[in-house]
Amino acid sequence: MIRLIDQTLLPATEQHIDVTTVDVLVESIERLVIRGAPALGAAGALGVALTMIQGADEGWDAARLESEIDRIRDARPTAVNLAWGVNQVRASVPSGIATVLELARKVVADDEAANRQLSQHGADWILAHVEKDKVRVVTHCNTGALATSAWGTAYGIIHELHQRGRLGLVYADETRPLLQGARLTSWELLNDGIEHVVQADSAAASTILRGLVDVAILGADRIAANGDTANKVGSVGLALACQRAGIPFVVAAPSSTIDLAIARGEDIVIEERDEDEVLCFAGVRTVPEGVRGFNPAFDVTPHDLISIVVTERGVAETATDTRPDVIATIAG
Ligand code: MRU
Repeated sequence: MIRLIDQTLLPATEQHIDVTTVDVLVESIERLVIRGAPALGAAGALGVALTMIQGADEGWDAARLESEIDRIRDARPTAVNLAWGVNQVRASVPSGIATVLELARKVVADDEAANRQLSQHGADWILAHVEKDKVRVVTHCNTGALATSAWGTAYGIIHELHQRGRLGLVYADETRPLLQGARLTSWELLNDGIEHVVQADSAAASTILRGLVDVAILGADRIAANGDTANKVGSVGLALACQRAGIPFVVAAPSSTIDLAIARGEDIVIEERDEDEVLCFAGVRTVPEGVRGFNPAFDVTPHDLISIVVTERGVAETATDTRPDVIATIAG
């Protein structure tokens, strides 16, 4: 059984879902009950063990087992971590459930360790490059413990700056249409006692150009070999504003988010979600009947707009370092 906190209900309700079937796991991933690239990696790895347990109960043959594992791997397309998590353990299926479970638990433990490590690297780089006693931050979407196995990526750096006494005000973008920033990041910041405000996504560019923040820190769903990065839709707008304002745009992710098989950002598959997510607000339609929606869940920020990509292996200065393999130096 995999126990998930239902992120669709936060912050109003803290409710758990006990997942015992592939159907429920796939549906939970599609509905964003569990979400965030590294958390999806953990769900993928643990999901293989869950598939084996269900398969043993229901007498599935090897072909059925493989196709059910594929369903988990393919539940969402953009975050490479989901397929990565599945692939970390699936070769060990013939060795039995205990082996797969042990490997899946290692995926979870390694993710937390990577997040804590990259947070040190990210905070060190920011404090070396931003000459401020208190660093004011803008962030987008949710990258904290909810989105990972523990601690967080971009959120982890923010938390690290806070612990070092060097964090100023945090601006958390609400992150339309599903409000991961307003609902989840704000909940985590509040729980950690971090001073913050929530702003409309459409306020972010102006906040940056008015000089109200010193750095943007965001997560990633897939980082191509050239450093182009897919993240929650709206991210590229922040990057453009940061370039104009001359402040750093930092991308933080465990190395499992790097996909060296993808050469450039334009090759990354961008998930398009149900149009009702933009046509409706809190379940009520806000757009005239008959109008269609357009709902890409992610966008791609070109590497030259990204000051650094930071993983547990260190920092790559993607905007200024022209080595073609600069991303490979921080990959797993
Ligand atoms: O659609 P979501 O909520 O899964 O999108 C999540 C993001 O875009 C995050 O910024 C990214 O996965 C990094 S999470 C550490």
